[in-house]
Amino acid sequence: MFPLPVALVVTGDMEQSNIVTIAWVSLLTSSPPTLGVSVGTKGFSGKQILKNKHFTVNIASAAIMVEADFCGITSGKERDKFKESGLTKMPSRHIPSPIIRECPLNFECRLVNHSVFGTTNHFAGEILEIHMDTDKLRDVNDPASFDTAAMDPLVYIGGAREYRRIGEKIGDAYQIGKQLIR
Ligand SMILES: Cc1cc2nc3c(=O)[nH]c(=O)nc-3n(C[C@H](O)[C@H](O)[C@H](O)COP(=O)(O)O)c2cc1C
Repeated sequence: MFPLPVALVVTGDMEQSNIVTIAWVSLLTSSPPTLGVSVGTKGFSGKQILKNKHFTVNIASAAIMVEADFCGITSGKERDKFKESGLTKMPSRHIPSPIIRECPLNFECRLVNHSVFGTTNHFAGEILEIHMDTDKLRDVNDPASFDTAAMDPLVYIGGAREYRRIGEKIGDAYQIGKQLIR
């Protein structure tokens, strides 16, 4: 049982692009800002990232659970996943790979590091731009005011192979533990 976010990684460009669903995604460093994604060596997307050296990471909300699952059980080798899922591509600012309109949070990434463990590519992407739905900000001038409830991120429970939603806020990080410091 391993709770993980669901991210849709987009490769290619506005004319020809592919979407792959991944749960193995994490921020790696804040300076420079980098995101790590683990993408299988056998699928279509890993080869695309190696070839193009850029990709976008789009965080899925619960509203697109069906589309996200579809992109995780089909391959860009055989299908146009944008066309078949109905998800909408929008141009990025710095790279040819598009972002997905239906995702509330999007990262444009430039490939800066790559390694292979077993049958999985580990890609590190420098974050060149972050897009977020402004209607989900409590204060439009403060990106940290992103409203988690409005974002409604889709959570994948590895092992159990099920999707869930995030529950209510229960505390402030980097604060709540201070009560045990003597
Ligand atoms: C919920 C979910 C999470 C997944 N997480 C990953 C992952 O982290 N890394 C990965 O390589 N594949 C993951 N997959 C499987 C890929 O999405 C799948 O192999 C896909 O068909 C590859 O597509 P492509 O050939 O178009 O790249 C996941 C699938 C689902 C449904």
